[in-house]
Amino acid sequence: MNDGAFDFSAYPHRHLLGIEGLSPVALSLILDRADSFVELNRRHENKLAILSGRTVMNLFFEDSTRTRTSFELAGNRLGADVINMSVSTSSIKKGETVVDTAMTLNAMHPDVLVVRHNDAGAVKLLAEKVNCAVINAGDGRHEHPTQALLDALTIRRRKGKIQGLTVAICGDILHSRVARSNIHLLNAMGARVRLIAPKTLIPANIERLGVEVFYDMQAGLKDCDIVMMLRLQTERMSGSFFPSIREYFHFFGLDYAKLEKAKPDALIMHPGPMNRGVEIASDVADDIGRSAIREQVEMGVAVRMACLEVLCANLALEGA
Ligand code: NCD
Repeated sequence: MNDGAFDFSAYPHRHLLGIEGLSPVALSLILDRADSFVELNRRHENKLAILSGRTVMNLFFEDSTRTRTSFELAGNRLGADVINMSVSTSSIKKGETVVDTAMTLNAMHPDVLVVRHNDAGAVKLLAEKVNCAVINAGDGRHEHPTQALLDALTIRRRKGKIQGLTVAICGDILHSRVARSNIHLLNAMGARVRLIAPKTLIPANIERLGVEVFYDMQAGLKDCDIVMMLRLQTERMSGSFFPSIREYFHFFGLDYAKLEKAKPDALIMHPGPMNRGVEIASDVADDIGRSAIREQVEMGVAVRMACLEVLCANLALEGA
């Protein structure tokens, strides 16, 4: 149902592997198209036939609840056939490599493979071997492009713009693909990005990406428009990165006292899943006036619909 209002040639790529390197025009196309799906998704009659005849395969080598469900719903809403590959029942347990699995699925002629993997770079490797479009649903600590896009859509709808806003990304930056994708996107769209974390959770030389680093919440949150909290990714930690959860919350957990430093209308965000009482206080997370956490999940479906549509439109241009 693209009535010509959206020029998909603004996204001249076969895959969506990361935000790095995407132009503001390409990013805006996805955000604009996603925005047009939001109202539709709130209606009872919300099914479209844009991707009818297309097959989307979700291939998750790492656990996921919201991202996988969100892609599934997005594909279904657009009329595609959606298949979920559950890793626990797959050949991976029998020792098949990532590439073998991808080639096997490729032989079934999917149009889009949505892939999550715990190694950075694995999704790109896989994309080089298959002839369908590939969406990175999170690879190790590298990128999680649809999360950054849904965050951007949430910000744009709440604040009316991204350009010129000051966004603080706080917490476990070191292990976070969400942080990396958001840094690229927010910089491309003209926001100012601050990172706030203990020294042990800040990657070396991250300033090179054009961010300001703070080791103190009070200083870093001062006059921010957006406060984006990240989960402590203990499953990716080997060794000790902070003395105790209690101390972490004391210094880096978002509570009302620290939030005072940000602008009075600062928006609170979190990609989920949240560790309540660790990186964010429960009452702050549930503050209906200021927290956009539920809305982020809602925007996720719209953004993934737009991504699937844009990639399939490019396939159609190639005659696929
Ligand atoms: C994020 C992820 O998997 O990288 N979650 C998500 O996609 N909703 C962040 C996280 O796991 O903390």
